[in-house]
Amino acid sequence: MGGGKAMSGPAVQVWGIGVGPGDPELLTLKALRLIRAADVIAYPAPEEGESFARTIVDRHLPGGQKEIAIRMSLGDGAFPKADIYDSAAASILSEVAAGRRVAVLCEGDPFFYGSFMYLYSRLAGRCEVAVVPGVSSLTACAGASGGPLALRNETLTVLPGPLPEAELKARLAGAEAAAIVKVGRHFTKIRRVIRDLGLEHRAHYVERATLPTERYRPLNELAEDTAPYFSMILIRSQG
Ligand SMILES: C[S@@+](CC[C@H](N)C(=O)[O-])C[C@H]1O[C@@H](n2cnc3c(N)ncnc32)[C@H](O)[C@@H]1O
Repeated sequence: MGGGKAMSGPAVQVWGIGVGPGDPELLTLKALRLIRAADVIAYPAPEEGESFARTIVDRHLPGGQKEIAIRMSLGDGAFPKADIYDSAAASILSEVAAGRRVAVLCEGDPFFYGSFMYLYSRLAGRCEVAVVPGVSSLTACAGASGGPLALRNETLTVLPGPLPEAELKARLAGAEAAAIVKVGRHFTKIRRVIRDLGLEHRAHYVERATLPTERYRPLNELAEDTAPYFSMILIRSQG
């Protein structure tokens, strides 16, 4: 694939490629090269409509590539059924068997809470598969919020919003600095936990970081009580 190899091992047949958090300019040079050189591009997509990952790279696609849309219910917090990934992995493996190079597009970074992990676990050992890291939403949201994630030797805790309220509260109570991902429909619960812990003055809300529709607000200035799936809350240190 355009000379792309994992270190000095065999040629990679399937790349899981991080395409960044939304701004098409936040694609790495390696991602761009491998996406353009691929025979087949695959990407997660909602049950109907466009794939976010694909829209990020749309302007860079050369045309004429075979496309595999891995359709699933996205953004509702439920994990897609195993058979969706089984069938996507089988489709990808049949392309590999035919000698075609496959690029799987992954929003942000493939291994930062990315669904690519479920394909990787099905492909590894059955073909040569490797990852191209991407700019993750974590760092994109820090940039949008205008401040660092953590200071000096502080520990940064990353928490998924779907965690049960009591667990979220316990983990957040012990955190020096934190990022809460997968906010979406869990927004009200997360905000309640933050208020209960007296952390609202340290909380920063970012939605759709790096997109033209990006929004940033200190959490205590946010009037709405809903949030889109592509949103994150950062709890900064006291420093
Ligand atoms: C399943 S995770 C995937 C993360 C992705 N692999 C990454 O590296 O950023 C989805 C969550 O990431 C966060 N996220 C992804 N893109 C975002 C963006 N552009 N702005 C704000 N949050 C984002 C949201 O919390 C969202 O619910």
